[in-house]
Amino acid sequence: MPVRRIAAAIIAFVIAKFRRKRKLQKNDASISLMKTNNTDGTPPTTYSKSEDSAIEVEPIERFLDELLREKPMRFTPQQLIAFTQNYSVKLGSGGFGEVYKGQFPNGMLIAVKVLKMSMDRRAEEQFMAEVGTIGRTYHINLVRLYGFCFDKTLKALVYEFMENGSLDKYIFEEKNRLDWPKLHEISIGTAKGIRYLHDECQQKIVHYDIKPANVLLSRDFTPKVSDFGLAKLCERDSDSYNNMTFNAARGTPGYAAPELWKPFPVTHKCDVYSFGMLLFEMLGRRKNLDSKQSESKEWFPRWVWEKFEKGDMESILSLSGIAEKDREKGERMCKVALWCVQYEAEARPSMSSVVRMLEGEVEIVPPVNPFLYLSQSEATNSDQWTETTTQDSTSKGTAKDDSE
Ligand SMILES: Nc1ncnc2c1ncn2[C@@H]1O[C@H](COP(=O)(O)OP(=O)(O)OP(=O)(O)O)[C@@H](O)[C@H]1O
Ligand SMILES: [Mg+2]
Repeated sequence: MPVRRIAAAIIAFVIAKFRRKRKLQKNDASISLMKTNNTDGTPPTTYSKSEDSAIEVEPIERFLDELLREKPMRFTPQQLIAFTQNYSVKLGSGGFGEVYKGQFPNGMLIAVKVLKMSMDRRAEEQFMAEVGTIGRTYHINLVRLYGFCFDKTLKALVYEFMENGSLDKYIFEEKNRLDWPKLHEISIGTAKGIRYLHDECQQKIVHYDIKPANVLLSRDFTPKVSDFGLAKLCERDSDSYNNMTFNAARGTPGYAAPELWKPFPVTHKCDVYSFGMLLFEMLGRRKNLDSKQSESKEWFPRWVWEKFEKGDMESILSLSGIAEKDREKGERMCKVALWCVQYEAEARPSMSSVVRMLEGEVEIVPPVNPFLYLSQSEATNSDQWTETTTQDSTSKGTAKDDSE
């Protein structure tokens, strides 16, 4: 009908005009912001809407500007004292230092990690470079770094605050237990965070310390990997492991891949190994090494392999109370865990394969014995992952390690 057509044409014309006006306004705003950026790349101290009406940038606006410019903000020790109310609420401590709860002046909650480290001025550049990399690494499954402090007296990192704390308490503490489907979801989110570090961000990052305490949970239990980039930033304090005979500066006993404590080359596959250990702990809802268990169950991953080898999935799945409807997911998690902890790094899948296997997108080749090295001095299964998967990938659509 001609009247309808005319009305539609008028509406389209008005919308187009409105959009054009908004685009012009946006361009104006960004031009005026760009104009006042300092030439040395430091953040602008003022910006102007027009030449003659300069406006002082408030701290929060400056902070938002830093965020937009994808640059972590530098804080002074005095600011951190104010944000944390003189470090009054301690959230926990680990190999790198202590973590305190805090708040920005706009009410946003933060976690301040005070690093146990001494550093000379020469190390400052390196510190800035690493912090810059961490601060520009964004993903829904990674904890966000807002800023840092680098001062003679204080080195600290300022992170987004994660309301539900770390995953360990939801696996190991009876009173906080999450149901198994939620744990399964968390395992996939965590794997995606690590996959991003390995394959998708600007600069590849190896975490070196994947474990339940380094997976934090937001208000809605979205998992976020924390502490990535820290291994390069500073040396951990190995005394914090109760003087265990562990000399490596990286990783945590029980989760650290063999190459971290043996003279083998270390690659991103060390994170795959640690992630496998995390999956075992989700499956068993227990620590992998538990001296209170009977001898055969003391080291859980080995017990799982023995049951798996005998085809006894029931015993494994019943430990976690995995319901019949989730059985397939449980079996997948078990097979992925066994592949991830293969002794030889090359035999472990990439994190992108891990995600696809956990999500059920691909069929999983039955894992081979990851503990063969314990009975044989010479482990010879280095190519098994790639060989088996390549061989089967065409016929069964199996996960193929495509990262290499
Ligand atoms: N961003 C955060 N939001 C909320 N709580 C946090 C945050 N970061 C850390 N925490 C809490 O502080 C505790 C200690 O963290 P920290 O990273 O120092 O130690 P860790 O993870 O046990 O060991 P590691 O030094 O190997 O990372 C965590 O277990 C967690 O409960
Ligand atoms: Mg940590």
